[in-house]
Amino acid sequence: METKFRKIGILTSGGDAPGMNCVIKSVTCAAIDKGVEVVGIIGGYSGLINDKIRPLTKNDVAGIVSHGGTFLYSDRCDEFKTEAGMQKAIATCKKHNIDGIVAIGGDGTFRGATDLSIRGIPCIGVTGTIDNDITASDITVGYDTAMNSVLTMGDALRDTCESHARCNVIEVMGRNAGYIAIETGLALGAIGVAVQEIPFDKESLFKRMNEARADGRRSFIVVVAEGLGAAFSEGLVKEIEERTGIETRFVRPAHIVRGGIPTLVDRNLALKSGYKAVELLLKGVSDVVICSRHDQIVPIEIKFALILDRMYKNKLKEDDLEGFTDKQLAEMKAICKERHDYFVDMYEVINGVNR
Ligand code: F6P
Repeated sequence: METKFRKIGILTSGGDAPGMNCVIKSVTCAAIDKGVEVVGIIGGYSGLINDKIRPLTKNDVAGIVSHGGTFLYSDRCDEFKTEAGMQKAIATCKKHNIDGIVAIGGDGTFRGATDLSIRGIPCIGVTGTIDNDITASDITVGYDTAMNSVLTMGDALRDTCESHARCNVIEVMGRNAGYIAIETGLALGAIGVAVQEIPFDKESLFKRMNEARADGRRSFIVVVAEGLGAAFSEGLVKEIEERTGIETRFVRPAHIVRGGIPTLVDRNLALKSGYKAVELLLKGVSDVVICSRHDQIVPIEIKFALILDRMYKNKLKEDDLEGFTDKQLAEMKAICKERHDYFVDMYEVINGVNR
């Protein structure tokens, strides 16, 4: 069975994430050890369309585990969403004898992996997104590093806020997901955290800030998830000043937290996921994404993962649930509840602890 594969291609697509290079390394080394050649596809799906392929050896990937970004480069490719683009990508695979692909990224990347899988090129997805917005996976590669980067910046802001008796509002990335905001908000001792998953009580924030200031508190941190929009976070700065009289500054670290040296958590998640992807691809498995569930590295059908995301975001389309068994539907609902409860619990802790 394992001799079927001559060559595996690896690509990184969508927004980059620290730890992507660790996946590249682990896929390369695991495949070569099993007698399979490896090529890197340069620049995500557009590299596949435009025949940008390079061989990868163990030497090529030695030492890249500590590098942020992606050694294979990345992009968001609209042409790949068209049938013509897809056919060009398939032609490149045939030309180079690429028998299977490991695609590292987020939901858009996995949609592409499914499109290729159903057209005869087996693909396996590995998570690579700071947003942690793959509902089927408890954590995604890049998320931990991004959170730690926010933490470092937030701690520095706390120092200067304390010196000047100020508040700082920090708007953090995460696209439409509030995971980075809520986790870093707790860890930074933020007096308020605004995410789109839970209604935000501004009045309560102003009240708590006024009480804390009256009690002698000098510095305040408020964390806002970018999904709420720039008007919300920038507007909040003005409202805090008006309603509390506390001088307030605004910072948006943005892409800074998407780079940097991957943490141990991200490296090891990436290395294990890449290894698992190769093991499964060579066994004939395809159209799955490697997820972390309750500390286990497990494959989840991409269709299940994508529809679960839609269910979680209340964006299900008609017919989306067709074809799933009752057991799968129950599992999806349980995971959505788990995620929702997580935000409720985090809010409770933040409001109880960060006063
Ligand atoms: O998905 C990763 C992410 O960094 C999001 O957090 C953010 O909303 C978006 O990508 C930014 O995209 P771009 O790199 O295209 O500016």
